[in-house]
Amino acid sequence: MKTRITELLGIRYPLVQAGMSWASSHAALPLAVSKAGGLGVIAAGPMYPDALREAIREVKAGTDAPFAVNVPLYNKNSATYLDILEAEGVKVIIASQGGPKAHLKRFHDRGVKWLHVVTSPEHAAKAAEAGVDGLVVVGAEAGGHPPAHEVGILVVLRAVVKAVHLPIIAGGGVADGYGIAALLALGADAVQLGTRFLMTPEANVHASYKTAVQQAGLADTAMVGKASLPIRMLRNAFATEYEAAYKSGKPVEELNALFGTRTLKDAALDGNVEWGKTEAGQSAGLIDDIVPAAELVERLMRELKAAQQDLNGKLA
Ligand SMILES: Cc1cc2nc3c(=O)[nH]c(=O)nc-3n(C[C@H](O)[C@H](O)[C@H](O)COP(=O)(O)O)c2cc1C
Repeated sequence: MKTRITELLGIRYPLVQAGMSWASSHAALPLAVSKAGGLGVIAAGPMYPDALREAIREVKAGTDAPFAVNVPLYNKNSATYLDILEAEGVKVIIASQGGPKAHLKRFHDRGVKWLHVVTSPEHAAKAAEAGVDGLVVVGAEAGGHPPAHEVGILVVLRAVVKAVHLPIIAGGGVADGYGIAALLALGADAVQLGTRFLMTPEANVHASYKTAVQQAGLADTAMVGKASLPIRMLRNAFATEYEAAYKSGKPVEELNALFGTRTLKDAALDGNVEWGKTEAGQSAGLIDDIVPAAELVERLMRELKAAQQDLNGKLA
C-alpha cells in the first residue's frame, strides 16, 4: 500500500488512530497501533507535561515505527508540549485548533512533518499557504470536535481535495475497512478512526464509557455546544439538558456556562457517562465489539482488501 501519506510518514498502512484526549493520552494505544503498521497518535491535550514526556519515551522504547503527537494549539500548555516534542525528537506533529505558521520553521528545520487539522477548503488553503506537510480533514460524523458547519465527510473531503494538493488524512464516521476504502476513493491518502480505536482494551477510558459506545445506535449521538464550538457525543442526560436550553433560546453566555459544567474527563476517567461529555462519533452505531488494537488494525486491512475486491467486481 503506497499513498502520499504512507510515503510522507513511512508507515505500512494508510491508517491512523485518531488522537483522542484521555483515550490516547498515554503510550499503550499509540504504541500498539504503530507497532501494527498504522500511525499511533498520542493526544497531548489533557496530559501533564511530564506524563507526555514519559509516554513519548515509552512509545519510542517500544517501537522504531513512526508515531505522532496531537497538540491542540489553543491549549494553555501548547508551548510546553511543543518544547517537549522538540527535545524528545518527535517526528510527526498533528496540530489542531490554531495557526501553524509561527511553529513551522522551527520544526521543519529538524525534519519534523507537521500535519494540520482542518474542516473546510478555505481553512485547508490557509494551512497549505503556511507550509504544512499534510492535512487532517474531518466531517460532521466525527466524534470529538466535528466541524461546526455540520457538513459530512463525503462533501468536505471532496471540497478539500479540489482546493489543495497536499497529502490528506480523512476521517469521521469510519468504523471498518469499507469506510476506509470509501474515503481513499474520495481522494484521501490515509484514513483516521477515533471511536473505533476507543473500543480497544488499550484505550484509556472507563469501562462504562466503552459499554455506552457499544450499546449506542446509529442516531444516538448529538452535536452539543452549538452556541460556541460544538462536540459530538453520545446523547445522554447532559446532551438532552443542553439541547433543551439551546432550543429554548437561552443567551449564549448562559449556554456556554452550562457547557462548561461538564467535561470529557467526567466520562473518561470517572465513568459518568450520563452527565459527562461522552464524546463519540456516529460510527458508534456501527461498533459492537472491543478488539485489541493490533488485531483491529489487521481486521481493518482485511476489510479494506475485501472492499477493494467488491468494488473491482462491481466495476469490472
Ligand atoms: C473521545 C474522543 C476524544 C477526542 N479528542 C481529540 C483531541 O484531543 N484532539 C483532536 O484533534 N481530536 C480529538 N478527537 C477527534 C478525533 O481525532 C477524530 O477526528 C474523530 O474521532 C474521528 O471520527 P470518528 O470518531 O467517527 O472516527 C476526539 C474524538 C473522540 C471520540
